[in-house]
Amino acid sequence: MKAILDTLEERRAVARLGGGETRIEAQHARGKLTARERLSLLLDENSFEEFDMFVEHRCTDFGMDKQKIPGDGVVTGWGTINGRTVFVFAKDFTVFGGSLSETHARKIAKIQDMAVRNRVPIIGLFDAGGARIQEGVAALGGYGEVFQRNVLASGVIPQISVIMGPCAGGDVYSPAMTDFIFMVRDTSYMFVTGPDVVKTVTNETVTAEQLGGASVHTTKSSIADGAYDDDVEALIQMRRLMDFLPLSNLGGVPEISSFDDPERIDHSLDTLIPENPNKPYDIKELILKVVDEGDFFEIQASFAKNIVIGFARMAGRTIGVVANQPMVLAGVLDSDASRKAARFVRFCDCFNIPIVTFVDVPGFLPGTAQEQGGLIKHGAKLLFAYAEATVPKVTLITRKAYGGAYDVMASKHLRGDLNYAWPTAEIAVMGPKGAAEILYRSELGDPEKIGRRIKDYEERFANPFVAAERGYIDEVILPHSTRRRITRGLDMLRGKKLENPWKKHDNIPL
Ligand code: HXC
Repeated sequence: MKAILDTLEERRAVARLGGGETRIEAQHARGKLTARERLSLLLDENSFEEFDMFVEHRCTDFGMDKQKIPGDGVVTGWGTINGRTVFVFAKDFTVFGGSLSETHARKIAKIQDMAVRNRVPIIGLFDAGGARIQEGVAALGGYGEVFQRNVLASGVIPQISVIMGPCAGGDVYSPAMTDFIFMVRDTSYMFVTGPDVVKTVTNETVTAEQLGGASVHTTKSSIADGAYDDDVEALIQMRRLMDFLPLSNLGGVPEISSFDDPERIDHSLDTLIPENPNKPYDIKELILKVVDEGDFFEIQASFAKNIVIGFARMAGRTIGVVANQPMVLAGVLDSDASRKAARFVRFCDCFNIPIVTFVDVPGFLPGTAQEQGGLIKHGAKLLFAYAEATVPKVTLITRKAYGGAYDVMASKHLRGDLNYAWPTAEIAVMGPKGAAEILYRSELGDPEKIGRRIKDYEERFANPFVAAERGYIDEVILPHSTRRRITRGLDMLRGKKLENPWKKHDNIPL
């Protein structure tokens, strides 16, 4: 019996070594951890249960029959994060560059199926060179199997991708269909075709970093939702993120006991809005002061900074926060901000996470660049997302809510459940100056007259009461009581049931 047990241990030891000591050293020399080291940081201690450790590829071409490494370039299985189950796979770059073979794909597909069947999230750690070149169409078929499962799992379980090395070819499309993508600065990059192909096809000389590094994908393309300095930080932050997320669309939001009094009053909020309506203030100050313990997991912090999105908790339960940011472009809605927020609203709606919206928006951004770039369709994405969402929606207008943007930002008319305003709110078709200049164009030459018109408009509409008189605002609330009002509101809405008419799926403007 001892010999049998020893054989198992020996085989396990070989499998755990992946591509061998030299390749592990090379991985470390590049500032990267190995697949198994990464999983041990991501998961609770000793919680990882590995599957398919002895799986080998079946390719016989190009001398591959003589090169078999147990595990075949991906480590798969399940474990727990702060006690909650999660399925995981981690590409092992030390084995054939983490490239995907038919059997490698089967390992991933197996845990994708199990994660959906058991309604728990799946996290993929990527560090790989795309399709196993020696396998040809068998590898392409393998990708297809993984992609199909990504799509079927979408909206059922959270799917998270962490890019921790090269990620090319087929390896970018699977992450692209998951809910969130995070990257590691300087060691990871993502592109469909690498610098060599770019050079051949377009004659453009570009580095991997310029083409698809973390800074490109977090600031320009918006492919990535965040980036971290190294593997360790990235994995710790993933643990933090998972604490905010439901296990599935049926799981309900996690509840984490909080020391923060749900009734906490914050008098500093009474003076958050500057006297001058054109002066900015930081909406993140409001978010941090209102949510539990100031704990806010921001998504896409470096892209379209005129809107802020992320996860937080109120009375221990997860919420999704969407907030216009007056500090950047006066908080205006443009194409990027609309797309960014729309996808987030849809994620929250998929997973039954209540949405809290803070509104201070002067409207949509005018100009040829925006119009020609499809602002109508991109803006409509956010409008569509809010309108179709059936989760509890609590909205607070702190200052401006002008024009179409008033409607879009979770207004009463889009089935907002609780629509609050601070006394400083200004709800109108446009700003008083613009309005008076259009209505009284003939008086433009007379500064005194037009000044009076502006003042009249300001007095009539630059307040929340016209909207409150119509019931579009449920209550004008005192800024210092914001946390209390929102927490109580969310508590009241816990049993909310709202269903959209049956359909195969909607046709959101893409
Ligand atoms: C087989 C691969 C491989 C691959 C890397 N390796 N990529 N083996 N298939 N796709 C192997 C290398 O031969 C090498 O083996 C080891 O992994 C490490 O690779 P290096 O090139 O030495 O590492 P590095 O210099 O860091 O470069 C990493 C890399 C590069 C940028 C990922 O390897 C690379 O460009 N690979 C090919 C990427 C690619 O074009 N993939 C196909 C995409 S098409 P040895 O034994 O020498 O150490 C695709 C189609 C799917 O994915 C589309 C679906 C929509």
